[in-house]
Amino acid sequence: MSAASGSASENNPGGRADDRVSGRHELVIVANRLPVQCVDGEWSTSPGGLVRAMLGVARGRGGAWVGWPGDTAAQTPEATAAGAHEAIPHLPHDAGCLDLSTQGVHPVEGVDLVPVTLSADEFHHYYERISNGALWPLYHDAIRPSVFDAASWSVYRDVNRRFAESVAATVAAGGTVWVHDYHLQLVPEMVRELRPDVKIGFFLHIPFPPQELFMRLPWREEIIRGLLGADVVGFQRRVAAENFVALAHRLVGSGIVESDHSAVGVQTDDGRLVHVGAFPISIDVDEIEEIARRPASVERVRQIRQQLGDPEAILLGVDRLDYTKGIDVRLAGFASLLESRRAGAETTGRDCKPPIVLVQIAVPGREGLDDYVEERRKIEQLVGAVNGDHAALGCPAVHYLRTSLSLEDLVPLYMAADVMLVTPLRDGMNLVAKEFVASRADKSGVLVLSEFAGASDELTDAILVNPHDPDAVVDAMRCALELSAEERRERMTLLRKAVAGSDVHDWAEAFLRSLAGEAVPGSLGD
Ligand code: F6P
Repeated sequence: MSAASGSASENNPGGRADDRVSGRHELVIVANRLPVQCVDGEWSTSPGGLVRAMLGVARGRGGAWVGWPGDTAAQTPEATAAGAHEAIPHLPHDAGCLDLSTQGVHPVEGVDLVPVTLSADEFHHYYERISNGALWPLYHDAIRPSVFDAASWSVYRDVNRRFAESVAATVAAGGTVWVHDYHLQLVPEMVRELRPDVKIGFFLHIPFPPQELFMRLPWREEIIRGLLGADVVGFQRRVAAENFVALAHRLVGSGIVESDHSAVGVQTDDGRLVHVGAFPISIDVDEIEEIARRPASVERVRQIRQQLGDPEAILLGVDRLDYTKGIDVRLAGFASLLESRRAGAETTGRDCKPPIVLVQIAVPGREGLDDYVEERRKIEQLVGAVNGDHAALGCPAVHYLRTSLSLEDLVPLYMAADVMLVTPLRDGMNLVAKEFVASRADKSGVLVLSEFAGASDELTDAILVNPHDPDAVVDAMRCALELSAEERRERMTLLRKAVAGSDVHDWAEAFLRSLAGEAVPGSLGD
């Protein structure tokens, strides 16, 4: 594969509105990460729900994708000399991958990639300190304290500016720009300054906090103005859209205009109407159903159950290793469940045919941050404690895998599970819950789902649980294990109807139609 010649960014290094030269892409997706990364000389899909959801959309629509290649190989000598953060792993650019450290458009896996490189210092301030050290915890109910550092914020602003310049050089005249997530909240306003001719959408994949939390941010007004640069600002849930509208009114005096479709418009200083709505993201249902139908997947399910000792029940958790996901809550609940079953003499004790097992997949990430190091330590200690108390030789109670799995490997796990545990303390949506449901054509399997995940708005036939209440978590697990086959089938049938009713392509369609100016009924959500 070779890079396309004559890239838009080479044509327009400055990207100013008055001397601008358009790029050639009608649709430009902008996100922190590019959708693929080079690992051991091979392209693989980048981690995270955003990429999983958007990659198919980008391929289907022939768009360009502006993002960070996932390493800091292109760090400047100045940044290296300044000291810091050399421990960040460099992904190798071996023979099998293109070198994405150069500017330009690189066609890879059906998408035109436009890399924005980051130095190690920029990565630290923009990604670690602001995106994941200040915004991520605050937007997730402040379940960890945020660190607000003005010097880091100035780097966040500079990096957002670089993304915006790259977008401005890539998008065709009158084209569409779709900006994603909390790393890039200033980009909509910056792109508007550079390219007032294009349509700009912004979608936030994580929760948007209530006023009392957002008001803590030293840069609260700048963020609201940044987002109001878009024509459409989309959120996962109605409550998030309402929070944003209230904050826009409070912080920058925006007028609020209600339309008859239960959508809301926010009036800006420069007389534009910004459409604000809830667009709950989803998954590629057809892709998952196709993987589930493969004979190899069915055979893998049999092997998984056998490898686990053919237990009475398999409980499953699949999460990024993140303190928002409630992995600890679930491990503690599982330990209590095992205790109570032992007390009730329901089990065969420490036999090597375990009555119930928990499989926990924990996808590593953000390992440079103390909160993530601490979370890993806590979870691994808990896994050790549960196994210490409840395992027998060659027969663990918890199977803990700190790894990232492809969808081809995940779907058979979803199919093998009797109970899927999705217990985040706060989550924008949680696509794992929807993937589990889409995998269960057998209409069996029970979903235990946190009320604090966006998915709970739609998946109301799951066993909904408050993950902050330890007893409720144990009760939910017990209830899931005791459901009759008929009730499992009834619930799963309704869940599957909810997931099939709107997949990721419908989601993208609804957002882009709204960006094109079409009224999308009910887009504020119900
Ligand atoms: O869901 C929020 C998010 O930041 C997404 O943007 C991304 O899909 C995922 O988490 C992975 O996070 P990171 O890019 O920090 O590894």
